[in-house]
Amino acid sequence: MRQQFSYSKKVLKHFRSPHNLGKIKDADGVGEVGNLSCGDVMKLYLKVKDGVILDVKFQTYGCAAAIATSSITTDLVKGKTIDEALAMTNKEVIESLDGLPPIKIHCSLLSVDALNEAIYDYLNKNNKKIPEFLEKKHQRSVTLEKMEGHGA
Ligand code: FES
Repeated sequence: MRQQFSYSKKVLKHFRSPHNLGKIKDADGVGEVGNLSCGDVMKLYLKVKDGVILDVKFQTYGCAAAIATSSITTDLVKGKTIDEALAMTNKEVIESLDGLPPIKIHCSLLSVDALNEAIYDYLNKNNKKIPEFLEKKHQRSVTLEKMEGHGA
């Protein structure tokens, strides 16, 4: 039997007309992550100046919740400093969408993980200090990628 759930109006709005969709050609940081449980993928691009996120775009191949959370994450993060963006949680993302059905909570992890990976890439490329938690998170995602066979 198919499982029934409903999305908030905000989720549907972001899913139907996602904000900041696309890619940034000369991005300062790029993060790509996959969701092990469903195979969906998100790529997030950052343009950073003086430690502030000036522009952000995303490409997501995933469900409605993944697209809506990606879209709202880009809205939330634009104009934030790198430190502020790193402090963002998926709880914040979910609340900004007026909630997600419990079965779709895992989809929201994709956008925050892609954001963290893009920030990691930016810090790494610019020889800036990488916070310990971010280094650990990055290592975990590299290990998962290798396990899935995407790292080759
Ligand atoms: S089902 Fe894959 S991210 Fe939602």
